[in-house]
Amino acid sequence: MSKKILLSGVKPSGRAHIGNYFAAMRQFIALQNEYQCFFFIPDYHALTTVQNAEELRQNILDVAIDYLAIGLDSQKALLYKQSDIPEHPELAWIFECLITVPYLERAHAYKDAVAKKKEVSVGLFNYPVLMAADILIYDTDVVPVGADQKQHVEIARDIAEKFNRIYGETFKLPEPYIMKNVAVVPGIDGQKMSKSYGNTIPLFAEDSEIEKLVMSIVTDSSGGVPKNVYEIHKLFRPESELVKLYKNKEGKYKELKDALIADMKEFISPLREKRKTIASDTSAVLKILKDGGEQARVFARAKMDIVREKIGVKLY
Ligand code: ADP
Ligand code: TRP
Repeated sequence: MSKKILLSGVKPSGRAHIGNYFAAMRQFIALQNEYQCFFFIPDYHALTTVQNAEELRQNILDVAIDYLAIGLDSQKALLYKQSDIPEHPELAWIFECLITVPYLERAHAYKDAVAKKKEVSVGLFNYPVLMAADILIYDTDVVPVGADQKQHVEIARDIAEKFNRIYGETFKLPEPYIMKNVAVVPGIDGQKMSKSYGNTIPLFAEDSEIEKLVMSIVTDSSGGVPKNVYEIHKLFRPESELVKLYKNKEGKYKELKDALIADMKEFISPLREKRKTIASDTSAVLKILKDGGEQARVFARAKMDIVREKIGVKLY
């Protein structure tokens, strides 16, 4: 029996951090044996925020290297970039003609941008439609997402249903795969760790960075346990061991931070070294991306052929 299809998009938006890794990246990699995996880099989506060519180029390459460094096996899973598959935006256009403006106005990301009085590009408004195309074009079964992306998968399902109703059964309805243990990892300031808040500990941080960042974790705490330090520490050591450590060193924040630094270095340094090795051969990385794109495109082309037939533009 053929494997179910799993697809996930990882935005090229800056250095990956430990929140991204433990909540998302690590789990994607764990699924590559069980599913036929499509891991792609939504570089056209990134245009809603990154409008500097050099930065975007670097970010795309960085995401690809990050995934290879944490164990993505290009023999098992496809790794490619969205812009290599022009069928994605083509399908998005077709979907845009099916759904309404009031429907898309309910999307969280759009509402959020409006609430913050940001200037909303048409691209940002249409973001969920391109994402629906990303997903539906491969007959995806499951899409692993964090809570923030769940609505987008629901929009993809709605769009698939509407298309199927109008043109006949064509698209599979994808299921969101809500990842386990996606507890929010706090940043060094105690807010959610996020690239947009500048409070991250990068996944491939250098030792000196680890020291500096851990030492700057905000530690106000009433009960003797520095909450943010503990929440981050439990990613690197089983809680059964941590409870003892934090009890023995109650109130000794400097020593607890030193212990976290040691555990973090032990975990990060082999990953960082592996990343450096991969990054030293850019052309090998580009080849993986390019080959991945060519393979994914075979699926996308075949699906678009069916779609063009269904909507009535295929004459030969
Ligand atoms: P960021 O907020 O840093 O830009 P993204 O939005 O690119 O992160 O998120 C990529 C993935 O990592 C998503 O699945 C998201 O749910 C997860 N993620 C991001 N930050 C955290 C965090 N602090 N704790 C847990 N998961 C996170
Ligand atoms: N919107 C996703 C994010 O912000 C990225 C993304 C684009 C995606 N297309 C996708 C995720 C398709 C899953 C499936 O993280």
